Amino acid sequence: MADPYSNLGAQDTALQERIADAMEARCLEPAQIAIRKAYLEKLGLPENAAALELGSGTGHVTRDLLELAGAATAHGIEPSPVMVRRARKSFADDDRLSFNTGDAKDTGLADKTFDLIVMHTLLCHVPGPEEVVREAYRLLKPGGILAVCDGDYSTATAQIADFDPLDQLIKFMINQNVTNLWIMRRISGILTEHGFQLGARTGHGYVAEGEAAYFLTVIDRGADRMVEDGLLFAETSEALKSEARRRVSAKTFFGFMSYVSQIAVKP
Ligand SMILES: C[S@@+](CC[C@H](N)C(=O)[O-])C[C@H]1O[C@@H](n2cnc3c(N)ncnc32)[C@H](O)[C@@H]1O
Repeated sequence: MADPYSNLGAQDTALQERIADAMEARCLEPAQIAIRKAYLEKLGLPENAAALELGSGTGHVTRDLLELAGAATAHGIEPSPVMVRRARKSFADDDRLSFNTGDAKDTGLADKTFDLIVMHTLLCHVPGPEEVVREAYRLLKPGGILAVCDGDYSTATAQIADFDPLDQLIKFMINQNVTNLWIMRRISGILTEHGFQLGARTGHGYVAEGEAAYFLTVIDRGADRMVEDGLLFAETSEALKSEARRRVSAKTFFGFMSYVSQIAVKP
């Protein structure tokens, strides 16, 4: 199966719901919030700024565009109807937020509408990320800010010793779920080619904390996918899942990945 996030609206509803649960678990972890805070709080938006998140998933990052970046309104575009329904439900009481289904490559929105566009863990999933960058340039007002943040996926690991079998699940999931492994190593060049002026580029280390909620979703989905692919028997997959949980309770679980953010301005 190809990266399911690259065409999430076409996946069966149960898989979209499972991915939505994993996305919410990730969004709510304090270490993930700290990454978003680190690059969104310093943007210096004008008064009454209009913001857009492309690939808005369950909507938590879109809400950050108000709470952390200080935008007056924020709109999310997302192809999966399951995600859009969840985002609308979670944030129904905030009329500054809106969500619609759509494609980041061709939003149908008017030229020069937004002061800020954010792509948070979107571009790693999109075949032809250049088309999304071109669309963002069209949608931004002159002087508008683009913020791209994504994982540097080759750094993802749960390894605590040589030949650690849990780490294979992480590598397998990255291989199955990421279309553009090297996106944050290439993004500055892509943005420059499309007319943007580069701002700050920052690295953010993410270490799973406490119950490791998000990393456990990666391990569980990886183990189940190996069973679906005929690579593991169900019993082995359950054993690996319980190994991860035993490590969490024994305080020996380790999960890590680097994220990188790149800020750019439309001249
Ligand atoms: C890993 S999730 C990130 C969601 C959200 N930004 C967050 O960090 O919680 C990536 C999202 O991008 C969406 N996506 C994938 N291709 C897209 C496209 N062409 N246009 C807009 N969104 C897309 C997926 O459906 C998915 O919800």
